[in-house]
Amino acid sequence: MSDTKVPELRSAAWFNNPDNPGMTALYIERYLNFGITREELQSGKPIIGIAQTGSDLSPCNRHHIELAKRVREGIVSAGGIPFEFPVHPIQETGKRPTATLDRNLAYLGLVELLYGYPIDGVVLTIGCDKTTPACLMAAATVNIPAIALSVGPMLNGWHKGERTGSGTIVWKARQMLAAGEIDYDGFMDLVSSSAPSVGYCNTMGTATTMNSLAEALGMQLPGSAAIPAPYRERGAISYATGKRIVEMVHQDLKPSDIMTRHAFENAIVVNSAIGGSTNAPIHLNGIARHLGVELTNDDWQAIGHDVPLLVNLQPAGAYLGEDYFHAGGVPAVVAELMRHGKLPHPGAKTANGLSIGENCDGITTDLPDVIKSYEAPLKHKAGFINLKGNLFDSAIMKTSVISEEFRDRYLSNPGDPEAFEGRAIVFEGPEDYHDNIDNPAYQIDEHCMLFIRGTGPIGYPGGAEVVNMQPPAELIKRGITSLPCIGDGRQSGTSGSPSILNASPEAAAMGGLALLQTGDRVRIDLNAGTANILVSDEELAQRRADLEAAGGFKIAESQTPWQEIQRSMIGQFDKGMVLEPAVKYQDVAHK
Ligand code: FES
Ligand code: MG
Repeated sequence: MSDTKVPELRSAAWFNNPDNPGMTALYIERYLNFGITREELQSGKPIIGIAQTGSDLSPCNRHHIELAKRVREGIVSAGGIPFEFPVHPIQETGKRPTATLDRNLAYLGLVELLYGYPIDGVVLTIGCDKTTPACLMAAATVNIPAIALSVGPMLNGWHKGERTGSGTIVWKARQMLAAGEIDYDGFMDLVSSSAPSVGYCNTMGTATTMNSLAEALGMQLPGSAAIPAPYRERGAISYATGKRIVEMVHQDLKPSDIMTRHAFENAIVVNSAIGGSTNAPIHLNGIARHLGVELTNDDWQAIGHDVPLLVNLQPAGAYLGEDYFHAGGVPAVVAELMRHGKLPHPGAKTANGLSIGENCDGITTDLPDVIKSYEAPLKHKAGFINLKGNLFDSAIMKTSVISEEFRDRYLSNPGDPEAFEGRAIVFEGPEDYHDNIDNPAYQIDEHCMLFIRGTGPIGYPGGAEVVNMQPPAELIKRGITSLPCIGDGRQSGTSGSPSILNASPEAAAMGGLALLQTGDRVRIDLNAGTANILVSDEELAQRRADLEAAGGFKIAESQTPWQEIQRSMIGQFDKGMVLEPAVKYQDVAHK
């Protein structure tokens, strides 16, 4: 960033190039069709893209269609020219087989738009889970000035006087249905009550996580992430965001100036303090790779594990999005971390030109039961641990959601309190799980661990959110509501399950999970950070040789061209699940 020299606008190469009047006229003439004059287009006003992720197909982000009007007003008032355009829609709950499949597709499309059109800066409209990483990854690759704008969470859901949170209520309602406490209609009513307005999931799922982290990274205006979608303040921050991006273009404040290694370290700490989703390491590692910033799952454990959980939101806690906003949102969390010297880099620059420390210093919460104090947090050590062993090189576990019941049953052996062993039950994907979880032949009891494989970025293209597997109905009736679950897929950020997930390399990439057999004993040691099949190295080598001789781990055929293309070039979860050939394209607007 330079404060002294105002950079020439990249849009001038399209709209105001006297050396090539023919091309300039061709570039300019069609854009005159909707009310902009040639004088304006050639006046040195920045062209500001509004990357629109909302559509009828993506209801979580649909309110951005309304908010974009306020963004435009902000852009115009600051002397910019707004150009709104669509981003490939991604709806977490609507896309088959999984919305993650489309994160990299939206990324690719947005890179082409930002690079190939006369855009000087861009407002990234973020919200539903994968829209945030897709947009930030594209901004990282192209590296033109960019600012993110959350659509905001839905209002709180209510049912019979209790808060019902997105996704989280589904897990609870499923158990109630399985136990015969509610019927089909009761199930539908209970789940629908959690979605009372426009906006994204109101729990601390992947959406609230990623929107909070976009702010913690410095890519949004301070206080922006938590404002509920329908609130007046959401419109106001949209206007302010439009104004600010014009200034960012004049200051040449680029994603690479904001999303530094320091910013990622801050975001990791904030992720622990908010109780963020296990999808966050996948997405942040992916964004970092497109910037050339080194970031690994070891960093997540080293920087984030010891940080306490401050935000009391479902699934780990009690409250929802509106409460998070009234409690002060990300700035109140950051300020509490700063008071205890736990924000690693208060000097990291943010989109408003100030540092995150300057933005947040001294802020206190009005709702101390929603954003807890550092001294009396909801939980200690709320970050992830990064497990390794002969099952995988890396798998994430969110220890903050381990229940007392689970802890008593598995993590209370005298002398070895953080380790447990069990008999492996292996499912080949979600269909196999659903077909066989209640199969008496499997003899599943409380000494079993449930494994699911073939559900990683290659195996189930994009990676399925299926690792949090419910125990057999028989066990639930006996009060055993969770078994240890391990897999190469993901799980919803709205799930409260302490699964070991995102295992990399996945079975389809011939990771150790591919060698596991039902009946094997497996040992997990949270203290040592290990996860091992208790069979000899020779036996594992033999199983690998047999599997390779049989043609490798079997995966289902691709159903669409994109599934096949992405499978051929996608990296593993621990490496951000990016398109590997895309990583070398960095700072492309300046090449
Ligand atoms: Fe879109 Fe949760 S489904 S934010
Ligand atoms: Mg304090």
